[in-house]
Amino acid sequence: MEVRRTVPFVDLPAQVAVVRKEIEDRIAQIIDTTSFILREHCQRFEEEYAAFLGAGHAIGVGNGTDALVLALRALGLKSGDEVITAGNSFVATAEAIVLAGGRPVLVDVDPDTHNMEPDRVRAAITSRCRALIPVHLYGQPAPMAELLDLADRHGLAVIEDAAQAHGASYAGRRVGSIGTLGCFSFYPTKNLGAFGDAGAVVTDDADLATRVRMLRDHGGLTADDHDIIGQNSRMDAMQAAVLSVKLPYLDEWNERRRQCARQYAERLAGMADRVAPPVAIDDHVYHIYVVRVPAERRDPLLRYLRQNGIGAGVHYPGPIHRTGAFAHLGLEGRLPIAERLNAEMLSLPMHPALTEDDIDYVCEHLATGLDVA
Ligand SMILES: Cc1ncc(COP(=O)(O)O)c(C=O)c1O
Repeated sequence: MEVRRTVPFVDLPAQVAVVRKEIEDRIAQIIDTTSFILREHCQRFEEEYAAFLGAGHAIGVGNGTDALVLALRALGLKSGDEVITAGNSFVATAEAIVLAGGRPVLVDVDPDTHNMEPDRVRAAITSRCRALIPVHLYGQPAPMAELLDLADRHGLAVIEDAAQAHGASYAGRRVGSIGTLGCFSFYPTKNLGAFGDAGAVVTDDADLATRVRMLRDHGGLTADDHDIIGQNSRMDAMQAAVLSVKLPYLDEWNERRRQCARQYAERLAGMADRVAPPVAIDDHVYHIYVVRVPAERRDPLLRYLRQNGIGAGVHYPGPIHRTGAFAHLGLEGRLPIAERLNAEMLSLPMHPALTEDDIDYVCEHLATGLDVA
């Protein structure tokens, strides 16, 4: 079979080409100074990222999972404390709650936005609940106003999992800077991605920021202090330098993603009875472009798209309560919307280098694949 075109799911080489020279210069400086971990490059990125988000403090850490663990630990989570999060997310959100000693309480999601549903959250709050972790899934801000109001009324902390939503805004504020703490992953394919693993915790609260700084580096603010039991989750200088170079491009790259999403929506309008494009409320940054298709057609369609050179996927095979790690929660059948969405979801290529022809090619194959696959 002839494959006319290849449309990758993400296109990192295209992005690297834009920033390569600047990054090479910064990395040469790091090699010259042998200042490899934290220190000036990390501090610089922390300041730039806090300013970009409009937040008081950003703390560079090892990865996004650690960012969530450190945020929960900074809040003083105790063994058995409950933390409510969305049943539909990458597994790391629930994993981090367990790693920090808590008990994940997974709630069902909104069928349109795939995000945590405030009414379900309200029903899940018990006296053991300490925090909520809304996930801005796929780059779509979670309903923060309702969730903050609930948290306020029940004395709960709110940790935003903004790992997929760098630069997205909710009611005029950048996500990650709205809750008690915000957590980011800079995994290479994220909207703002490093050249390896990296993450950040963001907060306006100076005491929490200090605790996260201590926790990320063996419990102290200097190499000789170990005042609390910390861990090693320091950001390395090369990742910080890569992120500093890329950050000024982020808004422009996100705008490109929005343009691609508009073009997809136009092309998909003709298939409205069988393909539902994402619903964008607030300022979606389309980390992943997830459409819904009839459940029985999804897997054949996925195979058909891949056979035709299109990098399609499912985010995430799961949902979380069906993974081996969380099956013991016994939630089968109890999160019906997350389960249904999971059977219907299909992620299409989405990145700033996508062309109009790429999108036409994907949509054309989506249409034919629905019939022939
Ligand atoms: C929603 C969400 N939370 C947390 C994480 C964890 O981040 P990391 O892979 O950097 O540990 C990810 C990353 O993939 C994510 O998508």
